[in-house]
Amino acid sequence: MKMAGSAWRSLLTPLQPILNASARLRHLTHRFVSAAPLCESRHWLPIHCSIKFKVSRLAGTVNLPINGVRSFSTQMQTVTLIPGDGIGPEISSAVMKIFEAAKAPVQWEERNVTAIKGPGGKWMIPPEAKESMDKNKMGLKGPLKTPIAAGHPSMNLLLRKTFDLYANVRPCVSIEGYKTPYTDVDLVTIRENTEGEYSGIEHVIVDGVVQSIKLITENASRRIAEFAFEYARNNQRSTVTAVHKANIMRMSDGLFLKKCREVAENYKDIKFTEMYLDTVCLNMVQEPTHFDVLVMPNLYGDILSDLCAGLIGGLGVTPSGNIGANGVAIFESVHGTAPDIAGKDLANPTALLLSAVMMLRHMGLHDHGRKIEAACFETIKSGKALTKDLGGNAKCSDFTNEICSRIQNSD
Ligand SMILES: NC(=O)c1ccc[n+]([C@@H]2O[C@H](COP(=O)([O-])OP(=O)(O)OC[C@H]3O[C@@H](n4cnc5c(N)ncnc54)[C@H](O)[C@@H]3O)[C@@H](O)[C@H]2O)c1
Repeated sequence: MKMAGSAWRSLLTPLQPILNASARLRHLTHRFVSAAPLCESRHWLPIHCSIKFKVSRLAGTVNLPINGVRSFSTQMQTVTLIPGDGIGPEISSAVMKIFEAAKAPVQWEERNVTAIKGPGGKWMIPPEAKESMDKNKMGLKGPLKTPIAAGHPSMNLLLRKTFDLYANVRPCVSIEGYKTPYTDVDLVTIRENTEGEYSGIEHVIVDGVVQSIKLITENASRRIAEFAFEYARNNQRSTVTAVHKANIMRMSDGLFLKKCREVAENYKDIKFTEMYLDTVCLNMVQEPTHFDVLVMPNLYGDILSDLCAGLIGGLGVTPSGNIGANGVAIFESVHGTAPDIAGKDLANPTALLLSAVMMLRHMGLHDHGRKIEAACFETIKSGKALTKDLGGNAKCSDFTNEICSRIQNSD
């Protein structure tokens, strides 16, 4: 029986919002995919090309110049410093003081990144901060508050999107002398930073029904897998584990896993394993020493990297780096602004300091990185001048001074 056109239309009417959403999604997905940056020979991390770069010990990625674009030496280099909110300015001052004590050849260009509305109502970071990062390529960032219902997106997300910081690298290594229920943890989480559940595509289908899109692309999956294997190879690590739920999200996680498997074929010297996210969580709290480098899509990385930070003492001692295409990298502490202790000289600057050490290594300044890291770990091990969160009673400034005097005594 044939249906009249009007009968079809009345049947379709309740489905119209879904059809509209689906058309919008196709449009957005197309825009997203076609907006992916192209491989340019002057870039450090070509996206569509197979990656040829060196990965530094902690941070990942290049510390060797390609095509003579950048070179790292002991010459003074400028880094964009985003002190951030709450305790951000205090811990940033501590890092600057310690860098000065270590005579690290770094000069700081301080920038604020409060969200502003650009032409067309689009949220953006202030042009002075963008220009500074575009010029320096290297940034160190303290915590930024994300006011709920402020109307603008998270500044952390905006920074990642603005500079296409596609790889979040978090080494979680047990700190000698700082007791936690776990010892000898030594693993690295590598999180895809730009898409997945964080693609920002959400809409109302009909009243009371919302849809959030997990976007996985071939290009982003391939480049994060290549990054993870390069990282493993250049850091003398033996295994890369892809973390996924391809048994449930067959298409999206399936694509991510497929790209990891393909990339693994080019790295026969690195063992490749794949595990379900839930199994990783279970095994991680039972025996974290079984893990080495883990690579995963965005949301899994967000959760698992915090879990791993918990194994070594929390976000206050865990460094992090966001590495992007075009040679841009921003290193950051991943704890929040700690408004309860802001301005009281009580904050622990370790996470930002160790992130800054990652940055030094990324810049090829290994000796300075080693010196600062050793002084920080010795200070923690000695139990002297520890901040409250580390089990002591000292102020942020006491802890900072202790690190500075260890650096000076080591010269
Ligand atoms: N990467 C970031 O920029 C980031 C991350 C998380 C939260 N935030 C923002 O920070 C604000 C506060 O968030 P929250 O309260 O949920 O988390 P928080 O990390 O700021 O605080 C949680 C607890 O940990 C303590 N703490 C955190 N960092 C510390 C440090 N370096 N030294 C000593 N103690 C420390 C705080 O005093 C508090 O008791 C929010 O606006 C949130 O959006 C930013």
